[in-house]
Amino acid sequence: MARQLEEQIAGRFAVGRRLRVLDVGMGQGTQALRLARAGHQVTGVEQDPTMIAAARENLAGEPEGIRERVRIVQGDGRDTGVHFLPGSFDVVLCHGVLMYVEEPDALLAGVARMLAPGGLLSLLVRNAEALAMRPGLAGDWAGALDAFDTVSYRNRLGLDVRADRLGTLTATLAGIGAPLHSWYGVRVFTDTAADDAEVPSDVEALLAAEERAGRTDPYRSVAALLHLCGVRG
Ligand SMILES: C[S@@+](CC[C@H](N)C(=O)[O-])C[C@H]1O[C@@H](n2cnc3c(N)ncnc32)[C@H](O)[C@@H]1O
Repeated sequence: MARQLEEQIAGRFAVGRRLRVLDVGMGQGTQALRLARAGHQVTGVEQDPTMIAAARENLAGEPEGIRERVRIVQGDGRDTGVHFLPGSFDVVLCHGVLMYVEEPDALLAGVARMLAPGGLLSLLVRNAEALAMRPGLAGDWAGALDAFDTVSYRNRLGLDVRADRLGTLTATLAGIGAPLHSWYGVRVFTDTAADDAEVPSDVEALLAAEERAGRTDPYRSVAALLHLCGVRG
């Protein structure tokens, strides 16, 4: 996923340009820190104080030059209009957040408004078209059958959350002025791996296979997650 984002940024902006990045639902700041290390100016929005504390702790371990490129705002991703001016970011990330938002259209419209013309919207969502894959590959046939007719699922934290359909999001992105430009599958082969699984010795080959499948039909269509990139017109 990080490589896909790098590819999108490299294909859209001049090399070395310091981009203004908004990371909505930044969590513990993994992407925010990576982009700040790459030289960009990053603002993270996060509603959970525990996550904000974790992000601040991670940031505290960075050199001053990187620390001063990251700003953390506590707030709801649906309220970006309260905190920032329209058009004030080159890149907006919203990764792993839509699952927790019952009505995502308003949030998406709000974050699209934050983009400057030509800006990149990067969304990481759970793939509603492939919800039967995880229970099916685990041999949970009843769970697989249930998963065909719903966009709801229970995540690994035990929370009941929701997935998104590529077709629905494609229409939404067109409607909010940031039409879909590219999309990738994420976790095509590795979705059933345990979160605490050891890093295998052939991790480079694993990543290469994932990367290839994530950009190749029909594999990307059954990925656990979809990475959608919209561009502000
Ligand atoms: C699965 S984590 C993803 C974190 C990070 N974006 C990443 O990709 O590593 C989802 C995060 O979104 C945050 N979140 C969920 N709904 C939100 C909302 N409406 N506004 C702001 N943050 C939200 C959660 O608190 C959590 O930290």
